[in-house]
Amino acid sequence: MLNVAILGFGTVGSGVAEVLTMNKELLAKKVGQELNVKYILDTREFPGNPFESKIIHDFSVIENDPEVQLVAECIGGATIAYEFVKKCLQAGKHVATSNKELVAVKGYELLQIAKEKNVNFFFEASVGGGIPVLRPLSFDLAGNEITQVAGIMNGTTNYILTKMLGEGAAFADVLKDAQAKGYAEANPAADVEGLDACRKTCILSALSFGFHVYPDMVPTEGITKITEEDVAIAASANMKIKLLGRTMLTADGKVCAFVAPNFIPVSCPLAHVDDVFNAILVRGNAVNETMFYGPGAGKLPTASAVVGDLADAAWHLTARRDLDWADADESKMMNVRDLELPYIVRTNEPADKVMAALGEAEKLAADGYKLAKPMTLAQIEASGLQLTAVRPVFA
Ligand code: HSE
Repeated sequence: MLNVAILGFGTVGSGVAEVLTMNKELLAKKVGQELNVKYILDTREFPGNPFESKIIHDFSVIENDPEVQLVAECIGGATIAYEFVKKCLQAGKHVATSNKELVAVKGYELLQIAKEKNVNFFFEASVGGGIPVLRPLSFDLAGNEITQVAGIMNGTTNYILTKMLGEGAAFADVLKDAQAKGYAEANPAADVEGLDACRKTCILSALSFGFHVYPDMVPTEGITKITEEDVAIAASANMKIKLLGRTMLTADGKVCAFVAPNFIPVSCPLAHVDDVFNAILVRGNAVNETMFYGPGAGKLPTASAVVGDLADAAWHLTARRDLDWADADESKMMNVRDLELPYIVRTNEPADKVMAALGEAEKLAADGYKLAKPMTLAQIEASGLQLTAVRPVFA
């Protein structure tokens, strides 16, 4: 039998306890031994809860119990969770986390500790909720040079965009609904301002390109400035508008990562990812293009990924999975402002002035223009035009 401690009994932590219990026999067969929930750490009491007897409040009990081999960290944030995960790894325990902030901010350091202690530090649930994407990217696609990863990676904002733009629902109502369903972050500004997608983009960047990319290296815009005009412009260009996290290898071998609302042609499968679903599209020089799709948030889907990590740790108790990357290197990054991309530009300037400044462009609905050739944001801004918005096209 292997003992599991769950840190945090919120949406994800309670989901992990539920999945480990619901699929107990099945997991025991797959893993070769039982995964037993020994402790659940939380500051709160849970009277009447079926897991009430497992609740403890003192982390040191877990840290000092040599019978706890596996830890699921579901607290969130990069303060207490960081301290606890670090101590668990240092104590020789394998850790699975759903915490994207922790991995985006402390991933390099924690992986180094895991390596020294010959234990696994897994975080499949941190990107795409229940979607298996980090293992395929790290292992199954190892034969590729990854050229670009682009994903709809925040379930809350995709849910909001789908309900607002498709059904005319009000922002505040849909956000409340997303919170009630357990999709949103404790502070939903992290969802709507793009920070959650930014953290996930950092993790995908590190796995794709081999060095840590910190959140402040990823220019980030959320969904709060998307308007009905953007939707009308997208429709007139046969496109949809979605919040994408993108990380790519540039022509001169640098990495460019950013988060922004993108126009996506309807011929691209990303354009059809709605509601709380996420999808991560990966381009590689051998596979060409592949896309991973599924529920991006929610209790049991996220728990599914954490429990998968626990099972993998159980399969690799002594020979740890070789998952690792180098520390950040700013010199290997290119700012998106300097990268030529196809753009749709919104401006109320007269069409002839727009074309004179930016070259041939297709006039779309409202104040939108689709540029005929890729340009840099810096070039577009230097045109002198009064710009309402400049949005990349995913091509
Ligand atoms: N708040 C996140 C989302 C949860 O909406 O996608 C999953 O990481």
